Amino acid sequence: MRVDFNVSINNGTVGEDYRIRMTLPTIEYLTSRGAKVILASHLGRPEAREAKFSLAPVAKRLSEIVGKLRPPIRFVDDCVGPAVQDEIAKMEAGDILLLENLRFYKEEEKNDPEFSKNLASLADIYVNDAFSTSHRKHSSTYGAATLFDTRLAGFNLSKEVQYLTMIRDKPVKPFTLVVGGVKIKDKIAALEHLVPKADKVMIGGAAAYTFLKAKGFKTGNSMIDEERLPWATRALSTYGDKIMLPSDHIAAHSPADTSVTMVKGDIPDGMSGYDIGNETIERYSAEVGGKGGGTVFWNGPMGMFERRAFSNGTINIAKSMALAFWRGSKTLIGGGDTLEAMKRSGVAENEVSHVSTGGGATLRYLAGDVMPGVTVLNAR
Ligand code: 3PG
Repeated sequence: MRVDFNVSINNGTVGEDYRIRMTLPTIEYLTSRGAKVILASHLGRPEAREAKFSLAPVAKRLSEIVGKLRPPIRFVDDCVGPAVQDEIAKMEAGDILLLENLRFYKEEEKNDPEFSKNLASLADIYVNDAFSTSHRKHSSTYGAATLFDTRLAGFNLSKEVQYLTMIRDKPVKPFTLVVGGVKIKDKIAALEHLVPKADKVMIGGAAAYTFLKAKGFKTGNSMIDEERLPWATRALSTYGDKIMLPSDHIAAHSPADTSVTMVKGDIPDGMSGYDIGNETIERYSAEVGGKGGGTVFWNGPMGMFERRAFSNGTINIAKSMALAFWRGSKTLIGGGDTLEAMKRSGVAENEVSHVSTGGGATLRYLAGDVMPGVTVLNAR
């Protein structure tokens, strides 16, 4: 079972474990039917076999999550070869074994045929529940999968595909997009696909300053993506009637500045915008949570929410998302830092229709890219 346990680990302890928990329904389904479940994942982008990229802390967290009701999660410090085969030979029905980081072998990312064969030889059935890494054509997501007769989608992967396909192809109307975060570059392809379908597009975060500059506003020292200015100008001229931009901002001389100011319109020279202002919060919140019905997709925080002084915009959007959900909208959240922002705002995971586990994969899927790890499952 390919999972994406690429999670943050600090001093040997797993941070946010959402990706791990999202694989539990599939693991439970398989083990309760007597399967011996072998979990395979990558972690980070290691150059070599380095302790800080070991999946051992994930095995520990998974054991804590599944509790004492089942045999402890086994862990083996390799992902192919004799040590792994020995561990598998010892497994009984319902056991769970986590393999060491697949990327300790360079062959994984090269989709190397021999490595794929070795991986595939470990099991009888292939399951992919790692949507968030299915945009990669690697051995574990593609090459090895092709060697199985039975290659199945896990429950979380299915849910991701179902929700994201709805957004990408036929969003329930009215469709509202809330886009924030720092990098516009990574989101352009997805936005090109989604903006034409959207009824309203609200821009916040650093992305907003590039749009405001394109519109002729003064943005002070705010973060601007100069290269994407022409794209922002084009987007505004084609879809200007549906694109909403911040009308006020929380500005300061630096992120560490203790005195912050609310400014309307232009941002003064020497200052930068770090969050949307109160008037913008009211306008955006009314659009997101005001009516209920339709679909809302939110990707990227509204400001530098890690600092309390700049977190108000993000907190209010998160709360409006929850309100929209309770009023019957289909609400989707994408991207790792959007999940973190949501949690910091006190909004629970079950107050959103779907929180995507994917970062890059989600944006690629929404842009209409082919996902090798998904199509390989449909191939049969
Ligand atoms: C992710 O975190 O987006 C996935 O695990 C994919 O990781 P990668 O970008 O290193 O392939």
